[in-house]
Amino acid sequence: MESNALSISCAGLTLNNPTMLASGIMGYSTESFQRIANSGAGAVVTKSVGIQPRVGYVNPTVVQAESGIINAMGLPNPGITIFSEEIKFSKMILRVPLVVSIFGYSAEDYAEVAKKASEAGADAIELNVSCPHVKQTGAEIGQSPKLLSEVVQQVKIATNKPLIVKLSPNVTDITILAQAAIEAGADALTVINTLKAIAIDVETQTPILGNIKGGLSGAAIKPVALRCVYDIADQFKIPIIGCGGIKNWRDAVEFFLAGASIVQIGTAVADNIEVFQSITKGIENYLRKKNARSVKDIVGLAHRK
Ligand code: FUM
Repeated sequence: MESNALSISCAGLTLNNPTMLASGIMGYSTESFQRIANSGAGAVVTKSVGIQPRVGYVNPTVVQAESGIINAMGLPNPGITIFSEEIKFSKMILRVPLVVSIFGYSAEDYAEVAKKASEAGADAIELNVSCPHVKQTGAEIGQSPKLLSEVVQQVKIATNKPLIVKLSPNVTDITILAQAAIEAGADALTVINTLKAIAIDVETQTPILGNIKGGLSGAAIKPVALRCVYDIADQFKIPIIGCGGIKNWRDAVEFFLAGASIVQIGTAVADNIEVFQSITKGIENYLRKKNARSVKDIVGLAHRK
């Protein structure tokens, strides 16, 4: 095994290990990003930011589900103008790549936010075209190959930073959306965002979340996420960042074998911020046991016929 077996260069980013903080988990502050980086993440992804500040939904915004959580925060964010100052500050402090997640209500919106985030110093842009419950953005864009293609094309013109497109699993065939994103110029895909879900209280006999419906994340969605990664890797050569229910090194390795080169960790971080270190250590042991020189050696191995 090579001494830097865990480092990975992918879609224009170089990480010292193949883990990233998933978008939405630690919000918008440099302090949070720094805590995550110090805990061993190879990169951090911010919560999604739009052009204007947005308050988000009324509480409750998160509910525990079996083997996961359902959230509907409603994309609360300070707007890109204010957040640009935080990006600049983060870049002075962070020693790992900072990926800025963005959303908009049109291709022009996405392009403007991407441009401002890039000028502020984002190392890459992740397009949130997959939030399952905010109207006129997110999955309402990412479920349409035509709209998705327009957004990716406009953002490609607005920034020369690596462009990662985070896909929705709430579609009939995720490979059609992957193809649209790739043909429009995506440099990498994050696979997947949350599954649209609901929780109901039997005493009050009403939906629990303020927004009624939300997105399910955590262990419950891992098999779905893994299948989506597998399907995309089976058809396309694009770098894939696996996301969905990863909580230990074994989960991470399953995603590499399915075709991902990097994994994002979200829900598991809320329980245990040390999860990055334990996953990285476990991957390292696995590579040694399998005589693999690096993560790249095992990416996609499950596709061998
Ligand atoms: O409610 C939220 O802010 C969720 C965003 C997402 O799932 O992308």
